[in-house]
Amino acid sequence: MDYKKFIEEQLTNIKETVGRAKAINALSGGVDSSTVTVLGHRALGDQLRTVFIDNDLMRKGEPQRVVEVFASLGIDVQLVDARQEFLSALAGLTDPEQKRQAITDTFYSKVFSRLVKESGAKFLLHGTILTDIEETVAGIKRQHNILAQLGIDTQAAYGYSVIEPLKTLRKDDVREVTKILKLPAEISQRIPFPGPALATRIVGEVTPQRLETIRTATAIVEEELADSGAFQYLAVLLGDRATGIRDNKRQFGQIIVVRCIESTDARTATVTPLPWDKLNRIYERITQIKDVNRCLYDLTPKPPATIEYI
Ligand code: XMP
Repeated sequence: MDYKKFIEEQLTNIKETVGRAKAINALSGGVDSSTVTVLGHRALGDQLRTVFIDNDLMRKGEPQRVVEVFASLGIDVQLVDARQEFLSALAGLTDPEQKRQAITDTFYSKVFSRLVKESGAKFLLHGTILTDIEETVAGIKRQHNILAQLGIDTQAAYGYSVIEPLKTLRKDDVREVTKILKLPAEISQRIPFPGPALATRIVGEVTPQRLETIRTATAIVEEELADSGAFQYLAVLLGDRATGIRDNKRQFGQIIVVRCIESTDARTATVTPLPWDKLNRIYERITQIKDVNRCLYDLTPKPPATIEYI
């Protein structure tokens, strides 16, 4: 594939479609939305407004870091604090699908539609890739960002049209495009991170306290496994508790699961045989987190398991 030609074609297409109107896009810091952000700004300049919606479900320091990286590329990203709205929507929910739905609804029907109205944008740029469309249509994954493919008329429902410049590409193609666009490795080589973010890694209710626990555990796992070369690694907070001993007292504490997998496209995955020393170091650090007294390593490949827990 001629990636330079692909980029030129997309720039022309975005310019022609948007004309003199305004456009908006939501950046998550993932490879796809980052690529669309750079393409969009090259094509449209100030006609494109890019927002990063802080839903309180991101990793430690992530919203600020993403804004900083794009500032260094000369792209202004507006950080929108929607933490309270997402937390209120998730309060009391324990069912995985209800949690996902609450995040989708809060994002599209509340926060994003308000931003679109405020901005007067008529076009939304979106980082959908071919695999997202295939998996959504096949019902394998409930991506929370696919609208048209699910039969939702965005013009009627939300007042904007969606432009999806990457919809013919797969992940490895997108990575080739990021090289030509000169996106920093921190973005282009990022391990996969799901749209509903840390909510997919909390079994049971998402509360500020439980988010703090999973955020800390995630930072430890990502630090310890950064040089593992694995496809994806993560921490999960279980809904169950277990008895442990802390300061000579019995404590009914939290359980963290560590997952580290090898895969090429996330459709199937095998478990990384991590060295025992590494696993020991991880459990030592994880069990220093307040109220966590157990750390488990998940040995289950996909299938039968999925990669995330909800
Ligand atoms: P599962 O858990 O389905 O995950 O085996 C497969 C891959 O997709 C990521 N994932 C998601 N990505 N929105 C996303 O953008 C989602 O709702 C979602 N759910 C899972 C997951 O991290 C893994 O890489």
